[in-house]
Amino acid sequence: MGPMGTARKGHPLARTGNVGRRPSGEVQAALDVDGRARELRQYIERFPQASVLVLGDLILDHYVWGRVTRISPEAPVPVVHVESEEYKLGGAANVFNNIHALGGQADICGVVGSDDAGRCLLRELGLKRKGRGGVIIDPERPTTRKTRVVAHNQQVVRFDVERRHELTALYQRRIIRYVESRLRHLSCLVVSDYAKGVVTGPLMAELTRLAAERGVPILVDPKVEHFSFYKGVTVVTPNHLEATQAAGVRGDDDQAIVEAGTVIRQRLGCQAVLVTRGEKGMSLFEGDGVQWHIPTRARQVYDVTGAGDTVVGTLALALATGANLRDSALLANQAAGLVVGMVGTATVTGKQLGASLEHG
Ligand SMILES: Nc1ncnc2c1ncn2[C@@H]1O[C@H](COP(=O)(O)OP(=O)(O)OP(=O)(O)O)[C@@H](O)[C@H]1O
Ligand SMILES: [Mg+2]
Repeated sequence: MGPMGTARKGHPLARTGNVGRRPSGEVQAALDVDGRARELRQYIERFPQASVLVLGDLILDHYVWGRVTRISPEAPVPVVHVESEEYKLGGAANVFNNIHALGGQADICGVVGSDDAGRCLLRELGLKRKGRGGVIIDPERPTTRKTRVVAHNQQVVRFDVERRHELTALYQRRIIRYVESRLRHLSCLVVSDYAKGVVTGPLMAELTRLAAERGVPILVDPKVEHFSFYKGVTVVTPNHLEATQAAGVRGDDDQAIVEAGTVIRQRLGCQAVLVTRGEKGMSLFEGDGVQWHIPTRARQVYDVTGAGDTVVGTLALALATGANLRDSALLANQAAGLVVGMVGTATVTGKQLGASLEHG
């Protein structure tokens, strides 16, 4: 059993210990979906029974599309003639979106401001102002919003509206109380940390304690400056840069990733570290010296933003349905590979994920 108490007997994570041990430092063994399509598809079929709460920084992604026809007479900047606008779920809200699209039962907990962007975010989440579940309204901060102005397929400018200060103790307590009220219905808790103020040290300490009591695994999509908060969580999913920075390791080659993954796992005392590596796929560290590499398949790549949200969302659903860490990582890698190859969507459905296993 892992060093922390979240994986109880009977919980899927309790069955992950029986992997073949490899001497540490050995080149990573490769894992692939080949030959595992049938098993993996059975987990996907069970996604609708899984209930995942996503807690973290809710972000509204705002896109403004238009044409540039001239340079402004006021300043040396292009004038964009706006043709359309679009709002999308970002940050923790996009993890929620991914779980929902995959067919899982998703719940969301975070903060919005008392503003239009907040109302828009609630609407996009499919929630009402009244009965908005775990979404708290803090009138002291604006809803975190990123606006991208795009002309002729090129980003002209991005502007962010946000206040990144930590939630007050009152709002932190409300978050904790919400999680507490939901825990016994949950198969997994995801913390999606974008360092916009929701995830704090005391909040994480309380969450890990509560989740451990209930045997609910916690998955964290981390921010480098918050790594010390994540002690005792079940899995962290940093990308390669976050992993090497958090571990204080130089470089980005296999050796550096192995060192970073090992250091992080030991330092946090978590069961596993899943390092996402962009076009190189991912590396899973799940025991002393037990490490697996999962390559991506060559495919057309359109848009890699949000792939990390797909990874943690899929991982949560797979673990919740009883898959072990390796199978869960395989599914997460498969889902992320599909998402980066799609134009204009940041999610995949369970059906698309299942079908992609068939065709390799
Ligand atoms: N160019 C690519 N080709 C194939 N798969 C990719 C590519 N980029 C990302 N992926 C898939 O997406 C996963 C997550 O990507 P990445 O490591 O870039 O995460 P990230 O930096 O957290 O992303 P983001 O923060 O933009 O959501 C990878 O592990 C891989 O499965
Ligand atoms: Mg990320």
